[in-house]
Amino acid sequence: MNRPGWWRLDPCAPFALGPRTLPGRIWTASGCFGYGLHGHDIAAPDLATPYEGIGAVVTKTVTPQPRPGNPMPRLVELPFGAINSIGLENVGFAAFLRDVLPELEARGVPNVVSLAATRPAEFGTMAARLYEVGRGLRHWHGVELNLSCPNVAEGGHDFGSDPATVAACVAAARPHLPDRILVAKLTPNVAQIAPLAAAAAQAGCDAVAAINTVVGLDVDTASGRPVLPRRFGGYSGLAIQPIALAKVDEIVREVGVPVVGVGGIVDARDALKFFALGCVAVQVGTAQMRDPFAAARLAAELRR
Ligand SMILES: Cc1cc2nc3c(=O)[nH]c(=O)nc-3n(C[C@H](O)[C@H](O)[C@H](O)COP(=O)(O)O)c2cc1C
Repeated sequence: MNRPGWWRLDPCAPFALGPRTLPGRIWTASGCFGYGLHGHDIAAPDLATPYEGIGAVVTKTVTPQPRPGNPMPRLVELPFGAINSIGLENVGFAAFLRDVLPELEARGVPNVVSLAATRPAEFGTMAARLYEVGRGLRHWHGVELNLSCPNVAEGGHDFGSDPATVAACVAAARPHLPDRILVAKLTPNVAQIAPLAAAAAQAGCDAVAAINTVVGLDVDTASGRPVLPRRFGGYSGLAIQPIALAKVDEIVREVGVPVVGVGGIVDARDALKFFALGCVAVQVGTAQMRDPFAAARLAAELRR
């Protein structure tokens, strides 16, 4: 059969994205593989480490200050996905720079650091400091902006749902990352995602990642109340794949920006769908939480 170009992509070969060459196109999604530090501590019969064939681990999102996260329960497992309300639990930016980033480098884990903040200017401050500390590191490839936080400076609406605020966050970080990639991660919880992608592209990002989780809610039928204390959470996993594909397609057709596809990718066939639509790379999230070797196995399967 005469296969199209995307069919022949080697997902584990280095590829250029913005100012940087990344080791591969299969990444793990933020929040679903911790900080990427503990992969060497586990083994599987077929793979020595979960990093085999992985282009980048996108770290758990890091915020300016440490966060304890939301009260339990904060994860609901459903037949085809999960709803989470973790609340961005993380060690905080200072501890991340001191303890995590050097360790990722020492262990040779290719990584992209996910950042969140509550004011656009904070993204600039964090990017500048990260570059100061990380500019000499080989395995740190760049930053992914998690734009799903409330914008404190602008009255609390999500950064992610307003094109002007998306642009402000990207513009704040861009000048501080001259030779590292800058990815803007977009929310699917909007009627149209293309204006967000266009705003991010105009402000200078190298790629957009689509999608973050979809707003969801589950009800406990015994009590009649929502299962999660905060009612709503972020729905992820296989069930959201068609939504992710639709959002990716909208961006690819309407905006000329590289897209990193994420949402419901479990196996190689799922990843192929995103590549077929034009994605330059993909991320594995919920599947990676269920099995830390999911992304590595997917990469091996895709290669075959
Ligand atoms: C438990 C959990 C925690 C997550 N934490 C983050 C996070 O800290 N930052 C972020 O940008 N996305 C986070 N996500 C969203 C994922 O990175 C991904 O965008 C989403 O889950 C869709 O992909 P999937 O269907 O493969 O899981 C989280 C998802 C889950 C399930």
